[in-house]
Amino acid sequence: MVTSPSPQQSVRLEDYRPFPFRIPKTELDVVIQDDAVLVTADLHLEPVQDSSEPLRLQGVDLALISLAVDGQPLAADAYSLSGDALQIHATPHQPFTVTTVCKLDPAANGSLEGLYASGGMLTTQCEAEGFRRITFHPDRPDVLSCFRVRIEADRERYPVLLSNGNAVAAGPVPESPTRHAVVWEDPFPKPSYLFALVAGDLKEIRDHFTTASGRRVTLRLHVEAGDEPYTAHAMESLKRSMAWDEQIYGLEYDLDEFNTVAVRHFNMGAMENKSLNIFNSKLVLADAETATDGELERIESVVAHEYFHNWSGNRITCRDWFQLSLKEGLTVFRDQCFTADLHCAALKRIEDAAMLRNTQFREDAGPTAHPVKPDAYQAIDNFYTTTIYEKGAELIRMLQTLLGDARFMRGMRLYFQRHDGEAATTEDFVAAILEGATEDGSSLNFEPEQFKRWYHQAGTPHVSVDRQWEPTEGRLTLTFRQSTAPTPGQPDKLPVVIPVLWSVLNAEGRAGDERLLVLDQAQQSVVLEGLAKTPQPPVLSLFRNFSAPVTWTADQGDDDLFALFAEDTDAFARWDAGQQLWKRLLLARASGADASSLEMRMLDAVSQLLSPAGEQDPAVLATLLAFPGLAELEALQDEADPPALFEASCALRELFGSQLADALRQRLASSAESLQAHWPAGQGERQLTALIWSWLAAAGDEEVRDAALAAVSGPSMTLARAALRALQPIDCAQRLQALQVFHDRWQDRPVIFDTWFALEASTPRPDALARVEVLLQHPRFDPMAPNSVRAVLGGLVGNPSVFHALDGSGYLFMARQIIAVDGRNPITASRMAKVFSRWHTYGPQRKAAVQQALAVLAEADLSTNTREVVTLMQA
Ligand code: TRP
Ligand code: ZN
Repeated sequence: MVTSPSPQQSVRLEDYRPFPFRIPKTELDVVIQDDAVLVTADLHLEPVQDSSEPLRLQGVDLALISLAVDGQPLAADAYSLSGDALQIHATPHQPFTVTTVCKLDPAANGSLEGLYASGGMLTTQCEAEGFRRITFHPDRPDVLSCFRVRIEADRERYPVLLSNGNAVAAGPVPESPTRHAVVWEDPFPKPSYLFALVAGDLKEIRDHFTTASGRRVTLRLHVEAGDEPYTAHAMESLKRSMAWDEQIYGLEYDLDEFNTVAVRHFNMGAMENKSLNIFNSKLVLADAETATDGELERIESVVAHEYFHNWSGNRITCRDWFQLSLKEGLTVFRDQCFTADLHCAALKRIEDAAMLRNTQFREDAGPTAHPVKPDAYQAIDNFYTTTIYEKGAELIRMLQTLLGDARFMRGMRLYFQRHDGEAATTEDFVAAILEGATEDGSSLNFEPEQFKRWYHQAGTPHVSVDRQWEPTEGRLTLTFRQSTAPTPGQPDKLPVVIPVLWSVLNAEGRAGDERLLVLDQAQQSVVLEGLAKTPQPPVLSLFRNFSAPVTWTADQGDDDLFALFAEDTDAFARWDAGQQLWKRLLLARASGADASSLEMRMLDAVSQLLSPAGEQDPAVLATLLAFPGLAELEALQDEADPPALFEASCALRELFGSQLADALRQRLASSAESLQAHWPAGQGERQLTALIWSWLAAAGDEEVRDAALAAVSGPSMTLARAALRALQPIDCAQRLQALQVFHDRWQDRPVIFDTWFALEASTPRPDALARVEVLLQHPRFDPMAPNSVRAVLGGLVGNPSVFHALDGSGYLFMARQIIAVDGRNPITASRMAKVFSRWHTYGPQRKAAVQQALAVLAEADLSTNTREVVTLMQA
């Protein structure tokens, strides 16, 4: 029988009301028993003046054992317990204490929210609304409280007991000699989502950091036995982060202790709980043999991200979850700047731009599009998105571009001073930035209210640029037009403030002075006079350094793009010109059009770059030669056809590999010397080697295929993975062997073995779906670990001909898997459900097939999270 889904309740920004009580102090007593955990909570409450509202606390899946106010047990008619709310009808007018005792079963908690078991340890995840799975509490970010936490457990099973702040007491439990207890006190008031607790048999790696003002901070990293050798990179990353935040922002760490725990079962990357960061173990355990260069850089940036949250998120937190980007957009912006400072700023900007285009632009163009500051949600977990994080960071970067570095940093300093200790809003943030920036009496070159539209308007603005050239005058007139396509619920869009960094190439092909245009009208022109009076219009270099998160079109012909690709002084603009050329080539191939003359020109341009006089920096070269992502390409097709695009990229690699074989082999040879250098040294050479392997292996080069196979047993994970990626699309003997070698080498290391699952699931082969079923039954597949689930199912999605099979078998399979995952872990399931969000761009057969898969999902008994996503996609 088909039941119609019950309409779900939305939370709306406009309904925000302050909580009618303060909770200056929260005391928890957590007693860990063999088969359950008892949590006694004392909430010390104060009514906010003039409020006579009843006290409403949230609680999910809690067994309430007892309830008292000021020590007096409550009569049954003095409170009500319905759904997820506990209401106490009348409370004292003076400060009072509510005491609850609840019983939890962490072993049965597969959601990885609240308190749960991972391996032999117990751990928590409270953001966004997990604290209500631990005890009854308002569990909202604007209620800040000082926590005191006592944890009691068996000494042998749980020798390590951690919570936030400082350990103020520890010792045996008098009446039970096998048990011990630790008391933690966090002096900083914090919202409940930053609470954390960890208990387990963990091994500790200890280091320290001395802050600028002389505080000696003990740094402890806690991992499972055997993982200690893989912690040095994360520890070094932490120390670099602490130093950077002092140098750049003047922000110091504020406690004597900083703990980090690695957990195998985790829904996201990591969590910034005050002084007790908890990480997905794949973002802690790493060295050059077990992680790629890309993973090492990502670990460094996530360690920094969580550390930076201590100020942008913890000291200044969010008033409500509509402000999520206040902490996430800002912290992403900060971690991006950190990585740029430590490594190559230009390449980091290109990576971030590519990522934004392939994930955020896609989200903005689909059914789950939402503003950086949404105005309603059903499940807040569904809003931990690339829009909140990465687009949010871009808004801050635009402020920096518009204001200039010095004024922008003055604004930042004012923000951290003014709102320390508060739960703030994105309006508070923008106001502080602008006030700080104009402290010196300077004025703004844009309208603040118009800039703020970026926070409320979903969708990626599009800019078109028209070029009018008067050769006899040397006068160039550019006309910019901006528009934003409708998104669900937002049919009409207004112009936003778009900073456009641009320049023209001069006669030598070099970019001249960089200019900033503040594009804030629907249409706007600029005139440039006194240019060389050439018959051809000057070549335009637009959105240098990716100055705004927009798409654009300009009348740039192939000649202009080749000139930029060869010469532009801005790394982003140069790379982008190449991307536009690659896009033209790949789209032509995918649609069966003849682009042979453009292919010849590109072969020529690439051969120039590869020549000894060409591009010297191997990382830059590899970046210029990397194809655009499938998501970007799909968006440019009238009817998205992922398998055709996949075939096109294989064919293009084969063409370039065979036509440029000699030059490629030469560059390979000149990179060989630095291949084993220690990260970050040698990463450019490894990146270029990876690219060349993939081209030459596609072109049938047996020597390269053998070299790749050998690398899988070599000392560098970067090269091993490069090898597997190069061999994967090719049905050859080396592919099979390479996967087997990797399997045998890493099968006892779950974090690394997930890569094998992903590779197996994404290998194009006729029986791929059956293979995925086998993987899901594999003895080393852990259905409770989101990393494993994502490896296999994400691998399948990365296998275009199988996932997008015209008979709909891939979609249907995926829908059934999502339903199974949703039964235990809604956060992971609803994130995966977004794989269907592009269906309206497909051809008729695939459209119908996705609709069927969505119907199967819609008929299932889904969580609120997954229901919200499925409903949006069906609309
Ligand atoms: N605040 C975390 C971060 O970005 C995000 C996070 C970690 C999270 N775990 C989560 C969000 C679980 C929702 C659910 O650093
Ligand atoms: Zn974050």
